[in-house]
Amino acid sequence: ADVKRYQFDIVMSNVSRLCHAKSMVTVNGSYPGPTIYAREGDRVVVTVTNRVARHNVTIHWHGLKQRRNGWADGPAYVTQCPIGPGGSYAYDFNVTGQRGTLWWHAHIAWLRATVHGAIVVLPPPGVPYPFPKPDAEAEIILGEWWHADVEAVEKQGRVLGMAPNASDAHTINGKPGPLFPCSEKHTYALQVQWGKTYLLRIINAAVNDELFFSIAGHTMTVVEVDATYTKPLRASTIHLSPGQTTNVLLRADQRPGRYFMAVHPFNDGPGGVPADNNTATAILQYAGVPASVLPVPPPPAVANATCLAAAFHGRLRSLNSARYPAAVPLAVDRHLLYAIGLNIDPCASCPNGSRLAASLNNITFVMPRVALLQAHHEGIKGVFSADFPDRPPARFDYTGAAAPLRLGLGAAAGTRLSRVAYNASVELVLQDTRLLAVESHPFHLHGYNFFVVGSGVGNFDPERDPGRYNLVDPPERNTVGVPSGGWTAIRFRADNPGVWFLHCHLEVHTSWGLKMAFLVEDGDGPDESVLPPPKDLPEC
Ligand code: C2O
Repeated sequence: ADVKRYQFDIVMSNVSRLCHAKSMVTVNGSYPGPTIYAREGDRVVVTVTNRVARHNVTIHWHGLKQRRNGWADGPAYVTQCPIGPGGSYAYDFNVTGQRGTLWWHAHIAWLRATVHGAIVVLPPPGVPYPFPKPDAEAEIILGEWWHADVEAVEKQGRVLGMAPNASDAHTINGKPGPLFPCSEKHTYALQVQWGKTYLLRIINAAVNDELFFSIAGHTMTVVEVDATYTKPLRASTIHLSPGQTTNVLLRADQRPGRYFMAVHPFNDGPGGVPADNNTATAILQYAGVPASVLPVPPPPAVANATCLAAAFHGRLRSLNSARYPAAVPLAVDRHLLYAIGLNIDPCASCPNGSRLAASLNNITFVMPRVALLQAHHEGIKGVFSADFPDRPPARFDYTGAAAPLRLGLGAAAGTRLSRVAYNASVELVLQDTRLLAVESHPFHLHGYNFFVVGSGVGNFDPERDPGRYNLVDPPERNTVGVPSGGWTAIRFRADNPGVWFLHCHLEVHTSWGLKMAFLVEDGDGPDESVLPPPKDLPEC
């Protein structure tokens, strides 16, 4: 195993898209930021130096388990205090038992809009992929571009108590593509040769938008999600929630030409509108075809997005081979049911006297001022309580037309964690509700992969639904979409001690409080406790 060292300088950079220029926070001046390459088993040390005057920063390595080493996980005030202007912190971690595509991003306020990049973990030397070796590989990072300063967008929403402005464009590797006005020169192109096969490492780094990815005239084969191998799945449209990654094999086997790749937003209406001058695109460019050839038009936009996404994810299966078995917990020690609520809270300073909020089991999470992991490890009192409820305060018709709004209005605020015994097997059912409105929510758990054993529309039925779980080869992920007006059940074994964040990966909902954390206790064995904190851990 090697040691891979990277230096990340957090700097202000001038970036322009769609004829709008702005100064924004980047890593090393690049947008998206640099890719981290490692092999399974390597140690990675990324020294992050904050060279901007006005921003605190932390970086999260989304999907890396960081076993016993939450100090390197990155969410601000959960596992560390932020790196202040002028400060430096070395994220030092081992990439053990994982390989595939993940990504890194800033994990404080909305800074991840511009501060993110890919992580590529290759198998150990001599270990092949469990699918035909591709001729080449490429990273495809989907994102969002705002003309305005992203922090100002977030702040405006907070001050008004309303939803913040949507982004001005989606992007592919930071570029909106030629259909947008004034964007011709910001177009990503993937060069391919006829007959060859490419591994595309697709990442949804968008801040608030679920996205669909497709390529005109081509079908893809999914082979991996969230850095876990899957059974090969043919698909012409790939759905990714923010936070999710998907590897596909693409064979360049169509008539040599130029083809649009397209990113479509989540549209739950019945009719798909065709791609227009607001559709983010890139070009699949066959070798030898002149750039003057008109690209084959982008695939049409999606309709009925909730159904399409559910159908796509419902067909995913983990590989579950002898070498990569799916170790699904069959018995459950701890049953959890978290009701997801969008709420309206009173707000004296807001123009409407109220503001949008969000909650899990009627609790709107309040960020502490001391990092939770530090408070736990050092026994600092008064930072959090470990009494997060295992189920909603009352059983009700979660998704029915007449969901009891009062349950969701003025949810209780608190910094409450759920205490879990080391090595317990946990089942968590995430249940969307109609407290204010149903919506789909991508939930991300830090420190773990989990198995998505079931999902459905309407209310989870504890008598009927577990009988239909897939306990053989369910997809293994770190981020899962809870369908709009439905539920998703996940299982994991709590074998990673520490404090681990669980949150909606739509940044707008995270800001509203749609988050909580697990406190997984130390075990008694020699490798079962949180490691000591590094010397350069930032202070609050
Ligand atoms: Cu990708 Cu808590 O984040």
